[in-house]
Amino acid sequence: MLQVDSLVLTVTDPDSGQATEILHGNSFTLGSGEALGLVGESGSGKSMTLKCILGIEPSSARVEGSIELDGTDLLGSGGEELRRIRANDLALISQNPHGSLNPVLPVGRFLIEGMSDARSLPAAQARTRAAELLRQVGIDDTERVLRSYPHQLSGGMLQRVVIAGAMSGDPKLLLADEPTTALDVTTQAEVVAILDEKRREHGLSMIYVTHDLDLAAAICDRLAVMKDGEILEIGTPEEIRDRPKTEYTRALMSARPQLYPDGAPQPAPGTGPLTNTEDRA
Ligand SMILES: Nc1ncnc2c1ncn2[C@@H]1O[C@H](COP(=O)(O)OP(=O)(O)O)[C@@H](O)[C@H]1O
Ligand SMILES: [Mg+2]
Repeated sequence: MLQVDSLVLTVTDPDSGQATEILHGNSFTLGSGEALGLVGESGSGKSMTLKCILGIEPSSARVEGSIELDGTDLLGSGGEELRRIRANDLALISQNPHGSLNPVLPVGRFLIEGMSDARSLPAAQARTRAAELLRQVGIDDTERVLRSYPHQLSGGMLQRVVIAGAMSGDPKLLLADEPTTALDVTTQAEVVAILDEKRREHGLSMIYVTHDLDLAAAICDRLAVMKDGEILEIGTPEEIRDRPKTEYTRALMSARPQLYPDGAPQPAPGTGPLTNTEDRA
């Protein structure tokens, strides 16, 4: 469903005029319903890759290569249509949920405005549906949450609201950029589990960005290991673990405690020891 080919991102410093290449010709594909983990250290170009897909790279940047979503090149011409495709088909869940929510709207209004048929829907019905969306992401006191403004809710609660909102928009592709990094450890596990469950339920494709190889391995079908703006290798979690192609991947793994020795069954995401022993700060 998504095909990224030879993606190059170059940013130019407006003062010095100096151009720096940030992404160096990366290619990867994503199948329908598939989850790809984009894994690498801070500064390796993970967020920039998502920004290129979303069309929100810095204004000083030049993007080359191609990014095809179901046959449409998102880097092609046709600004208005591409904006519509991106708005309808892509959903971003970022590290900071405040960035996705409107600070001056109660959560209920935010969810209702995100509904595709918001205008034609009677208010009471829209409200019922917003409450239902919240219940689907594990929120029980829906009336209180619907009435609350973003600053009145915890980060974990807000991230659930963002996930609920993303699902209601019926996207094809979910782009998750370290969505739990800013949360406390227990909440991280809950939010990862909800995201994973909702994605599978809706049959969505996903790119999950993280520096946490174990987490990515637990929830993704394939992993792409990134370093310094380059994808070093792509494979299933088993391939990456058992037959790493690069020293860097080996180092990334040996930097982690051995949580799942060969043959040991892996716990469901968010329930295993990694949720307690990992430091994802
Ligand atoms: N607005 C920007 N302008 C120029 N360079 C940037 C900008 N934002 C990030 N970078 C650079 O791009 C590289 C990749 O950043 P990023 O994609 O945010 O990394 P990651 O998400 O993997 O931590 C880094 O070297 C960073 O310094
Ligand atoms: Mg990032």
